[in-house]
Amino acid sequence: MADITFNSPALVILLGPPGAGKGTHAPSLGSHLLIPHISTGDLFRQNICNRTTIGIKAKGFMDYGRLVPDEIVLEMLFARLKQEDCKRGAVLDGVPRTLIQARAIDREFSKTHKLNVILLTLDESLLVERICGRVACKQCGRPYHRKYDPPKNELCACGGTLVQRVDDSEEVLKQRLEIYRRQTEPLIEYYKPILQEIDGNQPKQEVFRNIIKNFTLEPIHA
Ligand code: AP5
Ligand code: MG
Repeated sequence: MADITFNSPALVILLGPPGAGKGTHAPSLGSHLLIPHISTGDLFRQNICNRTTIGIKAKGFMDYGRLVPDEIVLEMLFARLKQEDCKRGAVLDGVPRTLIQARAIDREFSKTHKLNVILLTLDESLLVERICGRVACKQCGRPYHRKYDPPKNELCACGGTLVQRVDDSEEVLKQRLEIYRRQTEPLIEYYKPILQEIDGNQPKQEVFRNIIKNFTLEPIHA
């Protein structure tokens, strides 16, 4: 059980393969813990949409299911974490994804922040259905699923348009999964002492209930 004390900031890392539910649960977990959620995938997609230098660099990697180089990820992440709304920490969705990223986060934050890691697992048989049935909001990034979490009137709750991600094809998914196994799975061993494993195959509400069981909230002292 991890105590989240608001007087000592926390970083909650959501680890797991594509489709495990990181993006589904990160916003609600952030709201529950009163800290923002940060998805490096969503930040890159916003940068691509706005045609920034980061976006132009990232697109060539993301479209083919490859990882964006560590230095680009870390610079963008640390800049985001320095913003005022992150002073009590954040829920991290999709980062770190390599040992280099994990060690850099440790160096920068382990003295000031409490680190918690949640691993969402997913059976391989569910992967393709989860990813190929997904549509996500172009504006806020919230994921929906055509079968399991259908959007109302083809729009996001925020009013944004829903689109299918360029990398959500069976072909690119194979590459994303292979990269997850090779570069991200070693983080399971790295974080072993602080890692909580949650079965991501269960219905969404049950997964969320099991995630929040890992946290006790202490009151905020001004
Ligand atoms: P990113 O956007 O992070 O993609 P990902 O890791 O491949 O993960 P996904 O978003 O596909 O899965 P998810 O776990 O969020 O699933 P979701 O909750 O949506 O990264 C994209 C790319 O950006 C990377 O490939 C890389 O190029 C780059 N990148 C990002 N971060 C990087 C980093 N740190 N380093 C280097 N490169 C980086 O759920 C999927 C679907 O299932 C949804 O439709 C959802 O509604 C549904 N669903 C969820 N839970 C349930 C449930 N319990 N039951 C039924 N359906 C469910
Ligand atoms: Mg996601």
